[in-house]
Amino acid sequence: MEKIVILTGAGISAESGLGTFRDAGGLWQRYPLEDVATPEGFVRNPALVHEFYNARRAQAAAARPNPAHLALARLEAARRAEVLIVTQNVDALHEAAGSRNVLHMHGQLARALCHACGWRWEAPAAMSPRDACPGCGEAMTRPDVVWFGEIPHGMERIEAALVGAGLFAAIGTSGQVWPAAGFAQLASAAGAHTVELNLEPSAASADFDEFRQGRASEVVPAWVAELLD
Ligand code: APR
Repeated sequence: MEKIVILTGAGISAESGLGTFRDAGGLWQRYPLEDVATPEGFVRNPALVHEFYNARRAQAAAARPNPAHLALARLEAARRAEVLIVTQNVDALHEAAGSRNVLHMHGQLARALCHACGWRWEAPAAMSPRDACPGCGEAMTRPDVVWFGEIPHGMERIEAALVGAGLFAAIGTSGQVWPAAGFAQLASAAGAHTVELNLEPSAASADFDEFRQGRASEVVPAWVAELLD
């Protein structure tokens, strides 16, 4: 069975009302990423980090999947190919749309992690620096998301999937953050056809065989319909 690997970024959740990072008015223009998305920032000011992720967790909980998420779930459910979604997003909109084979390489807002002992659990709606870890009791709990300078999750599984893929697509990502920015080159070198679906050309556009410009809620359902016809 053909293997399809789909990388998604903040752009696929933009029409569900969740902010992107580098567009005009994006999150990194409103919050200094070194304060809210690095281990050093967390040690310096855990309350600010929890405030940032509590707001994003509340927003993500209120968001609904859009036609792009739903189309990818249809593609997987059709079982014409083995579909793996590798998402950089920390929201749960792919799962809410019905996708099952989802790998969160940057972690998940809905999960909590203990900075002291590594224990993981379902995050409460709002986290605070005073929360005690259910595992070791230390008050060093953090969102289970991957910060700059930390290792993304599942890299071995992702690289194996890219090498075995017949088709690689990237949706709603600016191609500016590694290692995800290099996935198209990896897939292409292994013989995959590569497609980028994005609102505008990205930093990685030159690595793709095909570019479909537009809003994800429009171009992704059209692309999936073509694959399933
Ligand atoms: N439809 C399709 N693409 C869109 C839409 C939309 N409605 N809106 C925005 N985009 C595109 C933008 O053109 C941009 O190329 O989505 C991309 C969003 O890029 P970023 O904001 O950089 O988000 P992303 O690529 O996911 O960032 C990667 O960087 O900050 C870290 O960990 C964070 O996972 C994130 C990683």
